[in-house]
Amino acid sequence: MNSTVDLPAAMLDSLLAARHSCRAYLPKPVERDVLTSIFETAQRTSSWCNSQAWQVSVTSGDATERLRSALLEAAGTGAPGGSDFPFPEAYTGVYLERRRECGFRLYNAVGVERGDKVGYARQTLENFRLFGAPHVAILTSDPGLGVYGAVDVGGYVQVLLLAMQAHGVAAIPQAALTHHSALIKSQLGIAPERQMVCGISFGYEDTVHPANSFRTSRAPVSEVVSWVDG
Ligand SMILES: Cc1cc2nc3c(=O)[nH]c(=O)nc-3n(C[C@H](O)[C@H](O)[C@H](O)COP(=O)(O)O)c2cc1C
Repeated sequence: MNSTVDLPAAMLDSLLAARHSCRAYLPKPVERDVLTSIFETAQRTSSWCNSQAWQVSVTSGDATERLRSALLEAAGTGAPGGSDFPFPEAYTGVYLERRRECGFRLYNAVGVERGDKVGYARQTLENFRLFGAPHVAILTSDPGLGVYGAVDVGGYVQVLLLAMQAHGVAAIPQAALTHHSALIKSQLGIAPERQMVCGISFGYEDTVHPANSFRTSRAPVSEVVSWVDG
């Protein structure tokens, strides 16, 4: 084994193994120089034709608090929102199983019993409280780049999550926030035609909060990769 060659792979594996979606945060903001390093790393993300479709608005301090209040109010009134990309019509088969596993692990962790609809709603609302995070990043794509613009922003999301993890910053991607994309764009001064792919709430993890006590599983490679040889 050549340890010099193996080190980057081991580091990547350990970052991925340690990363998880964080659903409770300390109020402490992330230092601006740390954020600058993270976003500089994420700029290395690849994209089709190097188009770099992503634009990111990052909130701190009062800007986060204003957005949190507006989102909680909008979610509380049940005012119809609207996302810029259609949501899946249904999760079926293996996708439904995986979705359920993740949901039940979360509800078990926070003490919401099966069938407790009030408890489910309370936990869902946490999305709009930004899980108590001191920052949220709003990621948008250019409609002129179509599906592949969104694909490139998706790649950027994953690199950003890893860069955050490498700096000890916890995060959670949130499609739920796109329910209120118009409100978010207007409040953060994002051009209305930009398409919101997701938000990422982030900060320092509250490591003792029960919502952060569970982990999700992954399908084995044998269910995913088909080797086509010869
Ligand atoms: C594009 C995207 C959107 C997501 N949206 C939400 C969301 O709205 N609310 C939420 O609680 N988790 C959301 N997640 C987190 C997933 O549930 C989580 O990544 C998945 O269950 C795997 O768990 P892990 O991130 O802890 O490894 C999202 C993840 C991605 C990549």
